[in-house]
Amino acid sequence: MFISFEGTEGVGKTTLIRKLYEHFEASGKQVVLTREPGGTPLAEQIRSLLLAVNHDEPMSSDTELLLMYAARAQHLQQVIVPALADEKLVLSDRFTDASYAYQCVGRGLSKDKLNTLNQTFVSHMPDITYWLDAPIELGMSRARERGALDRFEQEKVEFFQRVRQGYQQLHELYPERIKRLDATQAPEIVFQEALGHIQALV
Ligand code: TMP
Repeated sequence: MFISFEGTEGVGKTTLIRKLYEHFEASGKQVVLTREPGGTPLAEQIRSLLLAVNHDEPMSSDTELLLMYAARAQHLQQVIVPALADEKLVLSDRFTDASYAYQCVGRGLSKDKLNTLNQTFVSHMPDITYWLDAPIELGMSRARERGALDRFEQEKVEFFQRVRQGYQQLHELYPERIKRLDATQAPEIVFQEALGHIQALV
């Protein structure tokens, strides 16, 4: 089973995924914890390019989209596809929905570009996606507490409001796959909600 986790910055995805990973590993399940952009050494190098702040040469939105998919192609081939073939549980911190929310709705790139990339390069989609949703201001203040802000975290509140709307659109389009979790709740409650839902499926 392939599960992805989505949301704007600072909503608690990483905490939730770690807790789920520890729970399933302790119960003897074969589970893979991974993330995008990243998840392999090469894809992590692409992640560094994507997150680096470079005021001398702004990254174009097309370059950003293509680098996301270069990392994703590598991640799919090296990590996700082999793990699914071995019937492991794959927990991925973000996947293609992030490209819709950030690059299409956030940056304003056409959906045709994204659809072409998805149809050409994405062989597997998540069975379930958890969208951790919280007001932008809450997540931004958590992100700021973590230290220096990366290239995305430095975006304006309006950008993240569009990204959040993008996730809302996806949630309405694919209500069966994309479940909304109220990320203003305590991390333990969010964990129990996600766990209960996954246990009913596996
Ligand atoms: P993270 O902070 O959740 O690790 O993700 C790194 C950043 O990459 C985050 O700001 C969201 C962004 N991102 C996209 O813009 N498009 C994508 O397809 C993915 C996977 C991430």
